[in-house]
Amino acid sequence: MAFSDSFLDELISRNDIEDVVSGYVQLTKRSGSNLFGLCPFHSEKTPSFSVSPDKQIYHCFGCGKGGSVINFIMEIENLSFPDAVAFLAKRAGMELPDDDTPQELKNKRARLLQLNRDAARFFYDTLSTPSGAEASAYIKKRGISRQMAVKFGLGAAPDSWNSLLDSMSSKGYTHQEMFEAGLIRKSRKGNGFYDYFRNRLMFPVIDVRGNVIGFSGRALGDNEPKYLNSPDTPVFNKSRCLFALNLAKKSKQGMLILSEGNIDVVSLHQAGYDCAVASLGTSLTPDQARLMTRYTEQVVIAYDADAAGVKAAQRAIPLLEKTGLSVKVLSIPGAKDPDEFIRANGADAFKKLIESSEDRVDYQLMLIKSKYKLDTDESRMGYLSEATVFLSGLPNAIEREIYGNRIAETAGVSPEAVKTEINNAYRRRKAGEKKRRESEIARPLQKAQPSDKSIRYENVVSAIAEEGVIRLLLLEPDLVSMCSLKQDDFTSSFLSKVYGLIKQRYSDGRDISPALLLSDLPQGEASQLTVIMQKPEKLSDSHVSLKAYIDRIQTEKLKANALSDLTAITQRYKEKKGYGG
Ligand code: CTP
Ligand code: MN
Repeated sequence: MAFSDSFLDELISRNDIEDVVSGYVQLTKRSGSNLFGLCPFHSEKTPSFSVSPDKQIYHCFGCGKGGSVINFIMEIENLSFPDAVAFLAKRAGMELPDDDTPQELKNKRARLLQLNRDAARFFYDTLSTPSGAEASAYIKKRGISRQMAVKFGLGAAPDSWNSLLDSMSSKGYTHQEMFEAGLIRKSRKGNGFYDYFRNRLMFPVIDVRGNVIGFSGRALGDNEPKYLNSPDTPVFNKSRCLFALNLAKKSKQGMLILSEGNIDVVSLHQAGYDCAVASLGTSLTPDQARLMTRYTEQVVIAYDADAAGVKAAQRAIPLLEKTGLSVKVLSIPGAKDPDEFIRANGADAFKKLIESSEDRVDYQLMLIKSKYKLDTDESRMGYLSEATVFLSGLPNAIEREIYGNRIAETAGVSPEAVKTEINNAYRRRKAGEKKRRESEIARPLQKAQPSDKSIRYENVVSAIAEEGVIRLLLLEPDLVSMCSLKQDDFTSSFLSKVYGLIKQRYSDGRDISPALLLSDLPQGEASQLTVIMQKPEKLSDSHVSLKAYIDRIQTEKLKANALSDLTAITQRYKEKKGYGG
């Protein structure tokens, strides 16, 4: 979504960065014109997070994050750009401009949502008719109460090729619309359509705003696939939503339980866990992890107990932790999934299971242990060395000690021996890190490389001068008219793009400021641009500095051209001699 410059400009000026950041970070130390505080994006003991009220930008010298007030809100509230803009608009009491999604697309989405709602109604109503009898019996067999069936809006897709199609046609929906909603498919001969969901228990997928965006249909017996989900449509994207989040978002339990099957979710809600959600047949995605951060800080993974479930959990853990969520992993003893466990042992037993659910370290140790029988010295050694390496990666000394004692006990050796082992491994790890850091410092040109790997500089010498040009132009927009460089004089495509944006703004007569420009860039690039803006620049002789930067860029360009000429000459020479190639 594109917001106009004048709108963003007003938004930025009405949300002073010092004000906004102060709501999250205690800014105290003043150094030059910058304010400093403890970075909210990584843990640290001495402040390296800076805010520049002059430039209206923030930058952390520790973790490299930076940008405008909009980037800050995106980062700290985990919001998309338009959502961060909406957040700040609300804060400043500004009206959002009408978004510029084409009216046509808006109409289509509204129409598809209406169709989905009508289809959900159809499935729901079918449940109490003869053609829904089998699904209804299945609900009973799975022990799902009437109350839960209503709460989730469960329904039945009849065992028929055209029930839904006919019903929706009679309501005035076209085949094209039903096709786009993923409710019907084209027959192979291409001359007709048929219902996508047949003879299934239907779960409407409802987003957090209450729209029916798609469906999961579960087979009523052992037929495959067990679950059939709506394909992606203009209103549905499997990897961005979670089943039952519309209900779970209101939970007061302070956590979300992530399970695999829709039935598990219903069963958990029925047992009082109204915070259960599931992804829809895909492994957990970063989007889904981020979505969860809006509603909780604690996620309990309750996947199936089989090998596939363990593997899925191992994939989900780092994704969730990366977004700052704390993660616990449930092991479900003697049952294949939460549903089976609850049915066999009751809701209270499940409560105990959650209370004793293991944090990441326990879980990892449990997995390592499961690989060893621990019945021979060799097996115990194998377990110990793997567990020691894992524990030595924990940053917290107390944790290393506590868990160290535990693995010592498991393997039947003295805690002291294990402690020494872990400490040695920890020291080796640290030494390795230190060496890596030192060798980085020893390479100053290397240091000039952006930390975002996608913005790698090919020619660092030129790129440093190119950065200088960008910095000067943003600090003194009057210089733009004097800068003779063309976009392809830049060796860095990132800096060339930024230069293009500045030139464009200038020729359109639009404002040029660091904060405005930052809003045009994705987060990684915005951070790099803030890094560039933070480097010192003398403005007393800005014309001279600009000229010096331009000279350096041109010299580098000549050098590069000469080099490629030379390569060409050598190449030709070799060919002539007959040993090229
Ligand atoms: N799945 C899917 N689409 C969904 C939900 C789950 O494709 N909307 C897939 C999951 O990826 C996983 C499997 O179905 O592979 C999980 O099913 P399971 O937990 O066995 O589902 P239940 O309905 O609980 O099945 P059961 O009756 O066997 O417990
Ligand atoms: Mn299950």
